[in-house]
Amino acid sequence: MRIGVYPGSFDPVTKGHLDIIERASKIFEEVIVVVSINTSKSPLFTLEERMDLLKESCKHIKNIQVDSFNGLLINYMKKINSNVIIKGLRAVSDFEYEFQMALMNRTLEPDIETLFMMTTDKYSYLSSSLVKEVVRFGGKVTGLVPEIVENQLYKKIL
Ligand code: PNS
Repeated sequence: MRIGVYPGSFDPVTKGHLDIIERASKIFEEVIVVVSINTSKSPLFTLEERMDLLKESCKHIKNIQVDSFNGLLINYMKKINSNVIIKGLRAVSDFEYEFQMALMNRTLEPDIETLFMMTTDKYSYLSSSLVKEVVRFGGKVTGLVPEIVENQLYKKIL
């Protein structure tokens, strides 16, 4: 079975992430969305909250699973026997860091491929950090994140 792995911090999941997940689910037999435990950023949502919000936001997609990983992504890939990492690319600004990570992962494990999917243009500026900032300063993020995420953001921040 062809399994694609879509890793990230998902703090929280946005409509931009969801767009990639929906499109990836049409390419792969199964997509595992994996939430990083050892993120260098200090997250607003706990690991469990980030996973629950993802599960709830993806429940209309049949071939999706949500999991978490600690340490190196390639070790998780080997554990679940997948060799495709899915990444979303928004703008040129994403490219350099993603390029570095893809090449480092390939150096560590040559059989694992990183597949980049171009974001949908209407979400190309969107990020979890910007969404949190807008809410922090009293703005609305309707339409930019799933409804359940929007409600949790207002609860957590305001
Ligand atoms: O949503 P993010 O914060 O852009 O996700 C980044 C993430 C978690 C995918 C990336 O930092 C990662 O893969 N971390 C795990 C450690 C690792 O394997 N690093 C890659 C070697 S360069």
